Amino acid sequence: MATVTETKALVDREAWKALAAHAEQMRAVTLRDLFAKDPGRGERLTAQGPGLLLDYSKNRVTDETLSLLVKLAEDCGLKQRTEAMFTGEKINVTENRAVLHVALRAPTSEKIVVDGEDVVPQVHAVLDKMAGFADRVRSGDWKGATGKRIRNVVNIGIGGSDLGPVMAYEALRHYSDRNLTFRFVSNVDGTDFAEAVRDLQADETLFLVASKTFTTLETMTNAHSAREWALQGLGGDETAIAKHFVAISTNAKEVAKFGIDTENMFGFWDWVGGRYSMDSAIGLSTMIAIGPDNFRAMLDGFHSMDVHFRTTPVEKNLPALLGLLTVWYTDFFDAQTVAILPYEQYLKRFPAYLQQLTMESNGKHVTLDGRHVTYETGPVYWGEPGTNGQHSFYQLIHQGTRLIPCDFIGFAKTLNPLGRHHDMLMANVFAQAEALAFGKTAEEVRAEGVPEALVPHKVFEGNRPSNTILAELLTPSLLGQMVALYEHAVFTQGVVWGVDSFDQWGVELGKVLAQRIIGELESPTPPELKHDTSTNRLIEWYRSHK
Ligand code: F6P
Repeated sequence: MATVTETKALVDREAWKALAAHAEQMRAVTLRDLFAKDPGRGERLTAQGPGLLLDYSKNRVTDETLSLLVKLAEDCGLKQRTEAMFTGEKINVTENRAVLHVALRAPTSEKIVVDGEDVVPQVHAVLDKMAGFADRVRSGDWKGATGKRIRNVVNIGIGGSDLGPVMAYEALRHYSDRNLTFRFVSNVDGTDFAEAVRDLQADETLFLVASKTFTTLETMTNAHSAREWALQGLGGDETAIAKHFVAISTNAKEVAKFGIDTENMFGFWDWVGGRYSMDSAIGLSTMIAIGPDNFRAMLDGFHSMDVHFRTTPVEKNLPALLGLLTVWYTDFFDAQTVAILPYEQYLKRFPAYLQQLTMESNGKHVTLDGRHVTYETGPVYWGEPGTNGQHSFYQLIHQGTRLIPCDFIGFAKTLNPLGRHHDMLMANVFAQAEALAFGKTAEEVRAEGVPEALVPHKVFEGNRPSNTILAELLTPSLLGQMVALYEHAVFTQGVVWGVDSFDQWGVELGKVLAQRIIGELESPTPPELKHDTSTNRLIEWYRSHK
């Protein structure tokens, strides 16, 4: 493990202590008051990033809160840590790796050196190879084994090798080649694979096996099933497989072992974390769907947010502000979750994508130097596209007992203009944020003639914080900006909390135990079970019922 210099504990920092004291005062302050006293607030507490406007005025913050949060970020070394990331230092200390997803979208003019090698030319070489392949599939030049063109692309992967591709495909569907069908298989539950291929013909289907390690149980199991399915459909001809399988991985050895020609492998590097990989070769399905030019536009969008994050002072820095506001509510207001509410149907998988990005990154209970934290870290991220959520869980956000900071995401223009739909959609974004912030008092309810017994039920306390993130139109470039916005917000949080946002040891134990249990479930004779009595009993029940 790389060495970590022991740093001052977060809770001992002056800015942290000042924030704790300040939070006590802020508990009684309402957004109604803050807006009433400061007519310029709605305009002042906004920040413009590339392509995006962040309105953070409906947060329970004052100028003092913001300057303390900025001070905290400075004291925790946000600037220095950002430079360390961008220049390839091995900031993922528990895996002794650089963290360079920013290199995946760096222009050719940049130089980023890892272990003595400039990685930017390598990134562009892979992008060029991807573009050549994507063009061949899109044009029909890449033929299946029977000479038919590819009509279906099935991405097999899980976690970062699935959520990014599926989210980006859904988000950018408008820009996709509608003559191609895309499917995404992730779960080891055989239903996922069976349903994905049930209406597909093997001789028109291309499988992209996406796995950084090429050892992941789910992906390898699905890839083997796909191989069998394809072989069956192609008349059992092993040589036919080469035309129907490509791999995306960092592990050439395992790719070759699986039987995929490494000529048909698209590589990336150990400095790309799974959840930060949708803009690497893992995005091959995205590139086939939207074409290389659109993919490059997406990378440019990512890059513009990278530049903004690296160069803009914290007080005007969108990702830094977003990250710090989450720290504020998580650590000083006991907020346990953040709701991601995109008012854009194409972003329906964005909350799911952000769940891995945020929770696998900052769901940590020890600091970089291995000390147990004495404060809360990563909150639970969740959400659904608007307006659907309004008719299900918004009740709790408005009138429940928990504080749930919300991120509303909306666009000035729709990709599918249809009568008054878009104005209605956007009216709901603004109305929800307004209702959450300002609520409705008992007096206001009474003034409507509501019977006294019903008044408490109809009161909205308000003072419920939200960010509103607005952009003109959902484009490939905008999607890149949006993802990079959250990537760097997560980074900012991780720097303050002092955790390693780039490892994921928490997923290991369950994997190991499952491997042992698989044998016990499949054993032809009753195995000797040495688990706890609950697990033993569950395994016995399964064996006797399966
Ligand atoms: O189990 C967690 C994880 O390691 C994620 O971090 C990763 O995105 C996913 O599994 C898939 O890993 P791979 O791309 O190596 O198959």
